Amino acid sequence: MFSKAPQASQSLTSITDSRQFALSSHEFDTLRELVQKLTGIHLSECKREMIYRRLAKRLDLLGLKTFTEYCKLLESGDTAEIEDFANAMTTNLTYFFREPHHFEYMQHTLIPEQVHSNRERKLRIWSAGCSSGEEPYSLAILLQECLPDLSSWDVKILATDLDSSTLSKAKSGVYRDEQIERIPNGWADRWFTQGRDNDEIIIDATIRKMIYFRHHNLMGDWPMSKRFNMIFCRNVIIYFDKDTQRKLFERFATLQQPEDHLFIGHSETLHQMSEFYDLIGQTIYKRT
Ligand SMILES: C[S@@+](CC[C@H](N)C(=O)[O-])C[C@H]1O[C@@H](n2cnc3c(N)ncnc32)[C@H](O)[C@@H]1O
Repeated sequence: MFSKAPQASQSLTSITDSRQFALSSHEFDTLRELVQKLTGIHLSECKREMIYRRLAKRLDLLGLKTFTEYCKLLESGDTAEIEDFANAMTTNLTYFFREPHHFEYMQHTLIPEQVHSNRERKLRIWSAGCSSGEEPYSLAILLQECLPDLSSWDVKILATDLDSSTLSKAKSGVYRDEQIERIPNGWADRWFTQGRDNDEIIIDATIRKMIYFRHHNLMGDWPMSKRFNMIFCRNVIIYFDKDTQRKLFERFATLQQPEDHLFIGHSETLHQMSEFYDLIGQTIYKRT
């Protein structure tokens, strides 16, 4: 599947010193090549420490003594470990109503526009790279609160992520008290109920029913073929190289029609990356 790693004893540059495991330059390169191939995530040399920290936990759990053994396990095509490896390499930071300007734009501009011009009363939204669910749940809460006469609309939110473990958290809809503090306008009071533990809270079934969670790798095949009025792919492409980003925007464009929206993260841009979208607001794009 990828080039063989040398024995640990052959390593030239290793993180050894007081560390539990040696990570040779060859092993580091092998692992980051595999991450890129599996997920599109590009890890530069400065991510060596991060890779070490995250994977040392896997070695411990598996009872392995060296990164050489770990590389061999991945090379053997062990599907369960390949999945855990990919999960360990993703960064899942997210929170409710992250980047509030996007939700404000939806509330004050996009939703009123849809009410005025969407004759079918049908909305399809994709949260691509949804992590533990805060993004799609925020969208569903916003629509419940701000789209008048929602019951007469056909609204579906597709929420996908490559990381199977963070996706399980998303599906569970269980959060801790402090995680809902950023939800504005007292909306949290209406859409969460107390869980079994003191600081555990659960998302309401009405919100849950609006969202379809699916395991999906943006680098793989895309089973979806229908139009998405809005795509949220925020704080995901930042981990990809420019070429991968360009291809991804081209693929998004095939699922959108003129006037449809694409929202990306605060440190991301489509500048000189895609002729299919016009910038219309802070990290908000419209399909041309
Ligand atoms: C930092 S989180 C962003 C979550 C949310 N969109 C937000 O802005 O708060 C990035 C997510 O992208 C996912 N991801 C990374 N590479 C992916 C890929 N190739 N396909 C699907 N999801 C991917 C990660 O698993 C992670 O959950």
